[in-house]
Amino acid sequence: MDEKKVLLSGIQPSGDLTLGSYLGAIKNWAELADQFDCYYFMADMHTITVRQNPADLRRHTLEQLAQYIACGLDPEKNTLFIQSHVHQHAELGWVLQCYTMFGELSRMTQFKDKSAKNADNINGGLFAYPSLMAADILLYQPDFVPVGQDQKQHVELTRDVANRFNSIYGNVFKVPEPYIPKVGARVMSLASPTSKMSKSDTDPNGCVYLKDDNDTIMRKFRRAVTDCDAEVRFDRENKPGVSNLMEIYSACTGKSFEEIQKDFDGKGYGDFKTAVGEAVISAIGPIRDEAQRILKDKAYLEGVYHAGAEKAAYIANKTLRKVYKKIGFVQR
Ligand code: TRP
Repeated sequence: MDEKKVLLSGIQPSGDLTLGSYLGAIKNWAELADQFDCYYFMADMHTITVRQNPADLRRHTLEQLAQYIACGLDPEKNTLFIQSHVHQHAELGWVLQCYTMFGELSRMTQFKDKSAKNADNINGGLFAYPSLMAADILLYQPDFVPVGQDQKQHVELTRDVANRFNSIYGNVFKVPEPYIPKVGARVMSLASPTSKMSKSDTDPNGCVYLKDDNDTIMRKFRRAVTDCDAEVRFDRENKPGVSNLMEIYSACTGKSFEEIQKDFDGKGYGDFKTAVGEAVISAIGPIRDEAQRILKDKAYLEGVYHAGAEKAAYIANKTLRKVYKKIGFVQR
């Protein structure tokens, strides 16, 4: 049998996972395990580029792992690990900083955004973040990196750094492709439906979290921003709020936009919002409950991240040794 292609992605445990990251990404990841050799990690080292509360960071990291598993990422079939448990990330991150140009880092939109938002803490790590991300990726020699649109620029930079390194030292790194899955909903904020649903949304009603209880979910959908023509019809341009609700409903129920339009023909937005809330509750309610159960099973969770780190470190170490040798470090 052919070797499976390798796929890797990470999410920062800087807050609670959202309905947007579930419907847009994680839900689809669960289906990739048969086809690819998959690595997913909690990018805790990236989160400290912005000041974190230590207790919250620890909690978010473990919650995120429990939620990944509850979303269907079977730890027997996927390698799930915590970034800081695999020290090769920091080591290769340093090396790659020396192969990433100041100009390249200055042009990253995420750096510009985050430094505008954190004007009192524009630290070196925030600037060098893309080099660490390149290390996260290149350590595992993946073929594909599934990311959202907002992370494409980082994967492009990773490719540039890999090519630069390879052109000096020979074929050390596989040059990965961004993987933008064909399926996967693009979920926008319920409060301002022209911007992406994000855990950093300033309006708490704009974002649904995977850990929200049923009443909270329903309340957020009932308050979702729509428009004033009371027609359930997909039109992102002119009806962003309703279109977003349709996208969410479609992702949760499998119904097409035409079916949804027909089902709610002549009904008001009130009925529709309630239906979307109910669909979301049936989709993510069981995940929330399962994640809570897993989170209480400390021994199980520890077993998962130990095994994940061990497997990840084995691969990461092979790449790092090769890099150290190529650049002229004396072997220990
Ligand atoms: N930068 C990503 C984000 O902010 C998280 C991340 C870190 C990542 N390292 C990665 C994603 C490696 C994919 C691959 O969402």
